[in-house]
Amino acid sequence: MKKPRHFLSLFDVSQKDLSELLAMAAMVKKKPGKFAHALDGKTLAMLFQKTSTRTRVSFEAGMTQLGGHAIFLDWRATNFTLGSIKDEMICLSRYVDAIMFRAYKNTDVVEAAEASTVPLINGLDNLWHPCQTLADLLTIKEKTVKPLQKTTVAFVGDGNNVCNSLIVGCAMLGVKVRVASPEGYGAYRKAVEFGEKKNCLKMFNAPSDAIEGADFVYTDTWISMGDEDKRMERLHAFRDYKVTAQLLGDRFFMHCLPAHAGEEVTREVLDSKNSIIYEQAENRLHAQKALLAWLLK
Ligand code: CP
Ligand code: NVA
Repeated sequence: MKKPRHFLSLFDVSQKDLSELLAMAAMVKKKPGKFAHALDGKTLAMLFQKTSTRTRVSFEAGMTQLGGHAIFLDWRATNFTLGSIKDEMICLSRYVDAIMFRAYKNTDVVEAAEASTVPLINGLDNLWHPCQTLADLLTIKEKTVKPLQKTTVAFVGDGNNVCNSLIVGCAMLGVKVRVASPEGYGAYRKAVEFGEKKNCLKMFNAPSDAIEGADFVYTDTWISMGDEDKRMERLHAFRDYKVTAQLLGDRFFMHCLPAHAGEEVTREVLDSKNSIIYEQAENRLHAQKALLAWLLK
């Protein structure tokens, strides 16, 4: 049987695919009516091991707007808690046209994709958050006044799932990324290798170095879902990585949300005129509608 097209990380799409997806996302945003029947009669299963606001609602609303339907599955209320990922995924694939999965471990997402006979979308795991990056790139394209190859994003803080996907997505389009993280909290090796190979990534220790020449400053929580037991040591490790109004200057501010105001960023920055966090959140909807229509075409 032909393998379905999955979206587990940005490495699952080519540079051309990514550009096409973003152009399609911009079109979906501008003319949503054109896509109102794109997925008539199609069903998306959304399986969550972790909590979510944006991912869950943007995928579900997106499916409705495309003429399809989405089913929310809380992992704990399913028999994934009893059976194997393989058996449960094979069954799920026989009912629905696509599956979105938010998991603790990337290995669970990979195992699920191996078993699934329909496209599987990674809705965040410990290593990647590729759907977030689609929305982030759409937002960067909308806001930057420069060509993408001359645009720079600084990421300050934890080299986590959001940072890893951002590095890969930006590097694919030639956007420069400058990351500042404390020792021991750097980005995932595969993302770093790719960013460096594309000559798009520079790593720093100090936030003030990373933001030099940047057009956008991005941060994310210091305590990702699954890191809660390390809260105290993480608060200590990241204490000098807070994005303040002074650090930000006149750059755009980005955050995937949920934000922990007073930890990685001040409330002042979140509410400032430079903040484009709600545009990013809205763009999840448009970018994922394009992704769904593209994967299921
Ligand atoms: N940014 C993001 O993925 O938000 P949720 O965790 O609320 O889905
Ligand atoms: N890095 C965060 C992102 C939440 C959308 C986490 O994994 O919890």
